[in-house]
Amino acid sequence: MSDETPARKRDHINICLDLGPGVEYSEKTTWLEYVELVHSAAPEIDLDEVSTEARLLGRRFKLPLLIEGMTGGTSEAHEINRNLAEAAEKLEIPMEVGSQRAGLADPGLEYTYRIARESAPKAFLIGNISAVQLAKEGVAAAEKAVEMIEADALALHLNALQELVQPEGSPFFRNVVKAIREASEKLQVPLIAKEVGTGISGETAKMLAEAGVKVIDVAGAGGTNWARIELERAKGIDPEKVSVAEVFLEWGIPTAASVLEVASSVQGVEIVASGGIRNGLQAAKAIAIGADFVGMARPFLKPATIGPEAVVSFAERFGHQLKAAMFLTGVKTIEELKKRRRYVLLGPLLEWMRQRLRAL
Ligand SMILES: Cc1cc2nc3c(=O)[nH]c(=O)nc-3n(C[C@H](O)[C@H](O)[C@H](O)COP(=O)(O)O)c2cc1C
Repeated sequence: MSDETPARKRDHINICLDLGPGVEYSEKTTWLEYVELVHSAAPEIDLDEVSTEARLLGRRFKLPLLIEGMTGGTSEAHEINRNLAEAAEKLEIPMEVGSQRAGLADPGLEYTYRIARESAPKAFLIGNISAVQLAKEGVAAAEKAVEMIEADALALHLNALQELVQPEGSPFFRNVVKAIREASEKLQVPLIAKEVGTGISGETAKMLAEAGVKVIDVAGAGGTNWARIELERAKGIDPEKVSVAEVFLEWGIPTAASVLEVASSVQGVEIVASGGIRNGLQAAKAIAIGADFVGMARPFLKPATIGPEAVVSFAERFGHQLKAAMFLTGVKTIEELKKRRRYVLLGPLLEWMRQRLRAL
């Protein structure tokens, strides 16, 4: 059993690399295409006045961009984490490692996560365990995960759909919020609650905020699709999981709807928009509608298998796109982009919010 998690993490990386965009939703999108930023023909600023600096959890970063948690536990993951971390250090952006479950179960695999801290001594590093594991094993597991990489914060992933369709899944979510509350009281570092690609509703955000999390990372629908990835793994092994995964391929709250839900439900909690963010214009839209930061996972995977320079140039391209969006809307700072609210919601996103605002 001890090799089960590394094997699963290897499968996830290989499926994502082999299928490329094929691991994303086919029908459902992020709905960021239903957010229009209002163009400014006379922005009254010069491009070089635009700053993409942003804050998260009290730290200042060069870009409002988080490298989302992806991997650990295998020799390939060691390389990927090294390349991502070296890039994060250079770019001055935060990075999250993938689920540390393998390292917690087998100390011989800790090096595959610790490489992130070794390669990025100054970077803001985020640990990662599942909220289900936290509920099962208690705060000690969270403390060990933090210690393993000298983490500055800990992300707890909420992956109900994935647990349902994963051949070795644990769809046991009873007492998860209680465990998060206990961890937020005892842990020395702030907690981030994150989904993995099906989004967080306003109601869930309220529960998480009351439980003491400081950041909600929505990881909404429209990007990496875990029903699709686990469907690939379950084929030929577990027909029951296949039949559930097939029906839930388009399940989830689109990223733009999730950001609006969380932003209109909680205060004093920072919001990361993730799930299908693929360029700087989408990031500008997500920030305009209420996010403080954005995150990306899958777009970083391929560059991370090449080297730190490939990761850096991908993030720099993203930065240029974000800056262009800010210039064209006439804002100099990320704070201004957030405050201005110069956007229009269209179509299904507007309809969603009209109906949901009454409930939230
Ligand atoms: C290869 C891969 C592995 C992932 N592993 C983890 C994980 O171990 N823990 C976690 O919280 N999220 C994991 N995720 C989910 C991401 O952190 C992110 O929430 C999700 O992929 C949505 O972002 P994206 O559409 O930009 O990929 C993984 C994503 C990918 C692509």
